[in-house]
Amino acid sequence: MNTVAVNLKSTSLFVSGEEFAAWQEKSLKALSELESRGGKGNDFLGWINLPSSIKPADIAALKATAAKLSKGIDIVVVIGIGGSYLGAKAVIDALSHSFTALLPKRDHPLVVFAGQNISEDYHAELFEVLRDKSAACIVISKSGTTTEPAIAFRLIRQHFEEKYGRTGAKDRIVAVTDAARGALHALAMQEGYQTFVIPDDVGGRFSVLTPVGLLPIAVAGFDIETFVKGAVDMEQITAKNDIANPAVQYAAVRNALYSKGKKIEVLVNYNPKLHFITEWWKQLYGESEGKENKGIFPAGVDFTSDLHSMGQYLQEGERSLFETVLSVKNEKHTMTIPNDPQNLDQLNFLSGKRIGECNKMAELGTLLAHVDGGVPNIHLEIPSIDEYNLGGLLYFFEKACGISGYMLGVNPFDQPGVEAYKKNMFALLNKPGFEKQGDELRKRL
Ligand code: PA5
Repeated sequence: MNTVAVNLKSTSLFVSGEEFAAWQEKSLKALSELESRGGKGNDFLGWINLPSSIKPADIAALKATAAKLSKGIDIVVVIGIGGSYLGAKAVIDALSHSFTALLPKRDHPLVVFAGQNISEDYHAELFEVLRDKSAACIVISKSGTTTEPAIAFRLIRQHFEEKYGRTGAKDRIVAVTDAARGALHALAMQEGYQTFVIPDDVGGRFSVLTPVGLLPIAVAGFDIETFVKGAVDMEQITAKNDIANPAVQYAAVRNALYSKGKKIEVLVNYNPKLHFITEWWKQLYGESEGKENKGIFPAGVDFTSDLHSMGQYLQEGERSLFETVLSVKNEKHTMTIPNDPQNLDQLNFLSGKRIGECNKMAELGTLLAHVDGGVPNIHLEIPSIDEYNLGGLLYFFEKACGISGYMLGVNPFDQPGVEAYKKNMFALLNKPGFEKQGDELRKRL
């Protein structure tokens, strides 16, 4: 079943049928290049058939470890950054109760994240909370050498070893990393941590369907089997050399709009549960396409909240953007707006209507207003926010990203630009070997 419906009706004012047909052809060509493994970065294409290569035994092993990490545990700290963080965060947030931390009773540990920043306040406050809780940790780093998660993991190890002893700490830590390389792998071997492997040919931002995403999602109590099933079905749908392939359509239209000077894509949602899906999507597209002085800038807004902050710009600011609305057909809950005999707010015309209907009309009204204001609109719809549809959605975005990157002519699977800040940071922190650069940089500050 197709879990992502692509509606391009509102882009036809900006891209003619003839132009779009030409972009569809380019998109199909890029798909063939991807599927035949003949393009740039083809040693990082393990994600393409990843969903269908996941075996029942893999799921069982992940579930068993999730159960072990959950037994008697209040909080599981997931350490990672970038692709080793955003997928799990996005799926867990989307599937969780909006006020999960405040629920009086939970069947699963609370999953929190660390190592995705180096804020002193953030980490100090995390340890303040951990003091009185029983905790476990999943530490994720493909390279095993990334500074931010390595700092957080030093702190966690110290805390766990002081609190639970070295053996106790070992039983509460699971490492997800490379099969053979990197400092985290070496440490895991030395300390005897249980490990899961990130395949060599799957890059961080394409790794949500490896243990990087699946283990934290399982710990949070969600059904990873169904999540993978959604991705498997989407893997089949998006492999088809057919213009009806939704990934082909999405890649085609965003490149068509880019060629017309629409250089910013704003991913829009109308459900706050999807905020981190946008954050994951921003990394996926930003890190994959933003190179060689090219690429659509991925931005995101949460509506209707941000209509009261960004709405003015979107309606009337510089016309260099287009919107992609990620719409959800059915919400989980039903709530109606009450009648108020006084009607001081003049809203009794809404009495008895579902809140979701107001949200939907806000979505449709905004779409028309923004199109009238010169903002092309791509509409993506998923039936509901659940494991199956999220698995399909994330795989859909990955596939479209691979196609789109090839259409742009870049290698979508590397990220050479990420190194520049790291070198400067190391130099400014006096890392041995970086002293000269450090002196030069300090003169510039
Ligand atoms: O997509 C990527 O490759 C990056 O965002 C990485 O995931 C991120 O830098 C973390 O790297 P690592 O998992 O090696 O610690």
